[in-house]
Amino acid sequence: MDQYAVVGNPIAHSKSPSIHKHFAEQTQQELIYSTLLGDDVQFERQVRDFFANDGKGMNITMPFKERAYAMCDVLSKRAEQAGAVNTLLMSENGDIFGDNTDGIGMVRDITHNHGQALTGKRVLILGAGGAVRGVLEPLLSENPESVTIANRTVEKAQALAEHFDCLASTFEDLKGEFDIIINGTSASLSGSLPPLKDELAGSKTWCYDMMYGKERTVFLQWADDHGGKGADGLGMLVGQAAEAFYLWRQVRPDTASLVALMRKQME
Ligand code: ATR
Repeated sequence: MDQYAVVGNPIAHSKSPSIHKHFAEQTQQELIYSTLLGDDVQFERQVRDFFANDGKGMNITMPFKERAYAMCDVLSKRAEQAGAVNTLLMSENGDIFGDNTDGIGMVRDITHNHGQALTGKRVLILGAGGAVRGVLEPLLSENPESVTIANRTVEKAQALAEHFDCLASTFEDLKGEFDIIINGTSASLSGSLPPLKDELAGSKTWCYDMMYGKERTVFLQWADDHGGKGADGLGMLVGQAAEAFYLWRQVRPDTASLVALMRKQME
């Protein structure tokens, strides 16, 4: 049977095996998907060994996405722009092909599952780390009116803005209401929020948190308090997996039903 795996460290709590098992059942594909605890020293060797032993594809998670990027023979345009990969595929000629499905997973979740168009919208994105870099190319492909990157360390926002041809700002200098606000900072992990002015959100603002959780995230609570609406990133997690599955199996699984099921299981 075709073998796939996700590699990261830590890895025990990864939801990827159960997501891909669900996709395989839904689309009647036969495959094995396991976890692999990444080793700080031996990571590249672990990947090569997996493919040498007939592995078909891998997902890469923290903290190895940049190292995986560096070892690819061929990259998709979005992976090249992201500077990181979350999906590897062994090509027929033995080349390792790297893709980054995080951004398209997020964009499809926002536009398809939540019905929020990005085209022509004023978009604000909070944070300028790896998570934000990973989604900018697919986000810009939707042709928003503007994308402003705001970050605590403004130099990082400026570097990304220059590379992707969008705008950069400190949190303090942001002005006016945005149509869409995306939180890509890791602040949510510790239950904190960047300093966001009240004027940034209003009743027409739709907010998206790349993080997700059982409780509404602090960022989405901020959106609620400002009359906005929004969703967390559970659909992005499932969406990036669906895009990887599509790359490997050429079948696109349905994501909405799995998101609903996972949401119920978190209750
Ligand atoms: P990731 O891979 O999750 O993007 P990262 O590359 O370490 O992780 O980036 C974390 C992002 O969250 C950065 O934009 C960081 O801001 P700085 O560049 O100024 O460090 C942002 N961040 C983390 N904690 C934050 C906090 N408490 N308030 C505001 N921004 C925060």
